[in-house]
Order: sequence, then structure tokens, then C-alpha cells
Amino acid sequence: MTQPAIEISGLTKRYGEGDAAVDALKGVDMIVQPGEVVGLIGPSGSGKSTLLKCLGAVIEPTSGRMALAGETIYDNGWKVSDLRALRRDRIGYVFQAPYLIPFLDVTDNVAVLPMLAGVSNAKARERAREMLAALDVGHRAQAQVPQLSGGEQQRVAIARALVNRAPIILADEPTAPLDSERALTVIRILNEMAQRFGTAIIVVTHDEKIIPTFRRIYHIRDGRTYEEAGEARAA
Ligand SMILES: Nc1ncnc2c1ncn2[C@@H]1O[C@H](COP(=O)(O)OP(=O)(O)OP(=O)(O)O)[C@@H](O)[C@H]1O
Ligand SMILES: [Mg+2]
Repeated sequence: MTQPAIEISGLTKRYGEGDAAVDALKGVDMIVQPGEVVGLIGPSGSGKSTLLKCLGAVIEPTSGRMALAGETIYDNGWKVSDLRALRRDRIGYVFQAPYLIPFLDVTDNVAVLPMLAGVSNAKARERAREMLAALDVGHRAQAQVPQLSGGEQQRVAIARALVNRAPIILADEPTAPLDSERALTVIRILNEMAQRFGTAIIVVTHDEKIIPTFRRIYHIRDGRTYEEAGEARAA
């Protein structure tokens, strides 16, 4: 049997200390199989971004366990020595804000990741242009970041998260600045990645238009997750 792509158990995260401490995650459990796209829904401040940041090794959890493809990466402490390699090779991250590099053009913002992974510059740019075209921003490939609209910047950020074909994609409200047609395009591309490459994808969203596209949804409330019951979600 294949291992789950993502397995989280009893994960907690406390920010700060003493009177100022915030318990953002209070014991999160989650399993995502390869090829699955799951939704993560919850009110503002419930811990959604915190959970993705822990899983993406952007911040360190406080306790609990996380495993990727059967390999324990965190068990009350990091279990991998090279967190940069983990972030670069195994996780594609769409942050809640696009965080593009303002002094690189659009193509290089996307190509920089395959370049860092050792792909030749020409090939990295070719892959970047393909992904930009799939996200309907191919015509802006030569533009500078500040010239793009908010939605265009977000689509470039999504292209960057997908370009290395990492086995895990973590997307924090990826469709928030997009109109409904483009939001659905992004979700279609994520579903295609999942099907073609077995990518496991978690999408944080408030977006009523895309919620019905998930087969499986986790709700998070006050730092704890609940899986939505029932198999009857629309495909
Ligand atoms: N760096 C930090 N230091 C202290 N507290 C933090 C920090 N980051 C987040 N928090 C707190 O942790 C809790 C969870 O925040 P988080 O950003 O994970 O929520 P969220 O579900 O992503 O919310 P939103 O929908 O508004 O993006 C909140 O109470 C927040 O104020
Ligand atoms: Mg958030």
C-alpha cells in the first residue's frame, strides 16, 4: 500500500510565551493521500495559515508529529537535517500574499526555483513559460512584477508553486484575488496536477465558488481540525 503523502497527528503550535502566548494549533490530525486535493476551511484566526506554515517547514511546530510519504519530518522536533532542501524539493507553496521578487521579471520569478534545483537556465525558463501559459498569464511573461494586477501576481505565484512539480502543494487562499472563471481555472489546474503527478494538495479557502469542487474538506476551528462527514460532495 502506498503511504499517505501527508500525515499529521496531535500537532500543536504556540506563538510567544507566558501571558502573551497564543495557542494557534491545539492538536491537529490530518491525512492526505497522493493525488488528493482537500479543502481546509475555517474562520479568520482559526490556525489555517499556521498549519500550512508548519507543514511547509516555514515555522517550527511546538509538539506533535508530521510525516511526508511515510518519512517522519517532525516528531517533537525536526527529524530532517536539511529544511531548505525539504522546502525546495518537496513542497510547492502558495502564500496568502504573492511575495514575488520585484526586481526579476515574471518568467524569472517562476524559473528561479527550477534553477535553484539545478535545472539549466534555458530549460527552467521554458518550464516557467509553460506554467505561466497554463495559468493564462503567458502574455505577461516579460513584464515586471509591479506592472501586474493583483490577480495576475497571484497567478504568477501559483505558477511558481507548481513549476517544480513538488509532490505536495500547500495553497493559502490561492483564489482570493481572482474572478470566478480564473478561480475555477486554478482549481482545474490543481486537480490536473493531482491526477497526472499524484500531487497531494491542501487548499485553504473561503471561496464559495470553489468549495463545492473538493471531494474532502477539513474544517478548522480554534486550532482543532474536523473532517467533514459524508461522501456526497460534488466531484
Ligand atoms: N507570528 C505570530 N505571533 C503571534 N501570534 C500569531 C502569529 N501568527 C499568527 N498568530 C495568531 O495565531 C492564530 C492563528 O493565526 P493564523 O494566521 O494561522 O489564522 P488563519 O486561520 O490563517 O486566519 P486568516 O483566515 O485571517 O488568514 C491567530 O490568533 C493569530 O493572531
Ligand atoms: Mg491565514
